[in-house]
Formats: sequence, structure tokens, C-alpha cells
Amino acid sequence: MMQNIQMVDLFSQYNHIKTEIDNAILGVIEKSTFINGEAVKQFSQHLADFVQTDNVIPCANGTDALQIAFSALDLPKHSEFIVPSFNYVAAVEVGAFLGYKPVFVDSLLGTYNMDTDKIEQAITPKTKVIVAVHLFGQCVNMDKIMGIAKQYNLYVIEDTAQAIGAKYSSRRGWIRSAGTIGHIGTTSFFPSKNLGCMGDGGAIFTDNEELAQKMRCIANHGQAVKYTYKMIGINSRLDTMQAAILDVKLKHLHKYIEARQKVANYYDNAFKNNKNIKIPVRYESSTHVFHQYTLQTISKEKRNEIQKKLAEKNIPTMIYYPSPLHLQEAYTHFGYKKGEFPVAENLCDTVFSLPMHTEMNEEMLAYICENLNEFLK
Ligand SMILES: Cc1ncc(COP(=O)(O)O)c(C=O)c1O
Repeated sequence: MMQNIQMVDLFSQYNHIKTEIDNAILGVIEKSTFINGEAVKQFSQHLADFVQTDNVIPCANGTDALQIAFSALDLPKHSEFIVPSFNYVAAVEVGAFLGYKPVFVDSLLGTYNMDTDKIEQAITPKTKVIVAVHLFGQCVNMDKIMGIAKQYNLYVIEDTAQAIGAKYSSRRGWIRSAGTIGHIGTTSFFPSKNLGCMGDGGAIFTDNEELAQKMRCIANHGQAVKYTYKMIGINSRLDTMQAAILDVKLKHLHKYIEARQKVANYYDNAFKNNKNIKIPVRYESSTHVFHQYTLQTISKEKRNEIQKKLAEKNIPTMIYYPSPLHLQEAYTHFGYKKGEFPVAENLCDTVFSLPMHTEMNEEMLAYICENLNEFLK
């Protein structure tokens, strides 16, 4: 009998590396240095080598990573930051929490990433930051973003929570990992992320030594020396247990990315000729690490019907994201109106994501694809 199909299957993934993970956890317990233990430093160095950055600053989660990044930039009051409306809430939330204004930009129908041709028209004298979100696992157009940032003297924070390990190939000839192109990169180790721990975790990347020092300080109550507070900080740590787990999982990340890409290729082939559905567009300048495999249907009604019918066949689906951020109650005071970002609004009505994880087999994939194609005949 076929195994239950899940959106993610963390238990089966764990079972394949059970001995390694169990030994790592036991090793931490035996040393009992649960905070700032050796594994935190070790994992940070391994991750720095993996993405090729000078500094990895571990922290408690991907949202804190963004907050620490924003805080380190010391922006003037009422600064504005550019961010896609079709996005997870974290960057918008922390920017607004710190008193800055999110200036939303619409997205592209095919890749789901920010429409970088619309950035310049959103820039005002108060704009200080562009948040480059690499949504669903592939990089946004970083050549364009870095070009605009240079021209207008803006910082770029790359939100790499969904794209760790993705590679961006610049028109200038270099290839770099997502999160290491802008001034600061942030990521999340939420369990279902491509590199996930067994709780919460996050990290920040930068090649800028001054920013690195400042961010380490902010993440540690604003202290560089114990009980000496240089700046207002927070307490945001990756604990030793999570670091030890991540250090094991990092060794498997290439393999995990390949497994996700294989699933995506299978889906692409199964749905590419189905006129009632659009497969995700692959952007030529980036590899895609498929945090999500997200399809687009023709209407909200059709999308909801598909979800219902797949659920009847025990095929789970999720909607990332059901509502654009510019229309969320928390952000209405910024004055955005329905219709302002039509692509983001349309995507929220028409997208759905299929099961995507490292443990999917051909039987599951065939079952999902046959059923979806049958409904969409
Ligand atoms: C794009 C993006 N940014 C930031 C975050 C926040 O990460 P965390 O849940 O670790 O705070 C997430 C997590 O879902 C995300 O998808």
C-alpha cells in the first residue's frame, strides 16, 4: 500500500539519517553546553563555506534574522523599504515594527518573484532598502536589483529563507549563492525549510565586517563584551542542539536539493501540456531549489475545486499565499488599495502548492499527477 502523501515528511527524512542525528543530539547532551556550544561555531563555519560568505551570524529564526539585519542599517526615521506584496509576512512585519514603511511592488506571473521592472517607480527620497525575496526557491533578478541599489544608494537585504543553496548566475559572469549577493542575506531553519532544524533557527550572511560585528552585537543584547551594552539589542540565539542537527543535515543538503528538483521535473513533465494549469517558470539566471512547487489555475473557484477534489483523494495541497500583504488588516494604515498590485492579487486567488519534499517516490508522484490531470481534463 502507498504511504500517506504529506506536504512535507520530516519523520521519514529523519529516519534515513537517524544514527547521525541521534549521535549529534547525544553529543550535545553529554557536553551540556546548550547555549553557545561548540556546534554553533562549527555549523556557522560549515554554512559559511557552503554558501561562500565571510560571516554567518546564527540567530533564533528567520524573522529575527531580518530584524537584526534591518536594525544594523541604522536607517533614518520613516525610511521606506521596497518589498513584494506576494510574499511571506516576515520582512514586512519587522520593517514596519521598526517604524519603516513597506513600499510594495507587484510580482511576475511566471516565476512568482518580484517584478524588478517596477522597482524604480516605487523609489522615493526616503527609500533605503530593497528586500530581495527569493520566493519558493529561486532567485529574483539580482542583476537588476543590485544595479538599482547602486544607482540610488540603497541597501539590499536578501531573504533567502526559501532558497538556501540556490545559485544565481550574473550577466557579469559570476555565480553566487542566494543570500551572498546583497549587503546582507537572511535565512530560516524552520523545520520544513530546505535546510530545517528540529525547532526554530535562523542565520544572517554578510561579507561586510562592520555590519557583521554590529549584527553579532545586536543578536547578543547589544553587547560585544559581557555586561557592556553598546547598542540596543535583542536576545536571538541558535541553540547548540539545533546547530548540531543542522550540521548533520547540511552535509545532505545537496542531495536534498536534487531530490526536490527531481520531484519538480516530474511535475513539470506531467503538467506542461495541460492547458488548464500553468507550471512554475524557471528563471534562466537562477537554479531552483523548489522549496515549494506552485502551480497556477485559471480562477479562484477552479483552484478551490481542485483543492477539494485532491483532498478527497488524500492529496494535500497548500496555498502560499492566500492574501497579498498590501491588503492585510495589519498594514491598512499604509493606505494601499485593492487593485494596486493586480498580479499579486491574482496569484493569491489562483495558486496552489503540491506536496514537495525529499522523501517522495514515483508511486506518489504518479498518483498525484494522474489525479490532477484527470480533474483538469
Ligand atoms: C520568505 C520567508 N522569510 C522569512 C521567514 C521567517 O522565518 P522564521 O519562521 O524562521 O521566522 C519565512 C518563513 O516561513 C519565509 O518563508
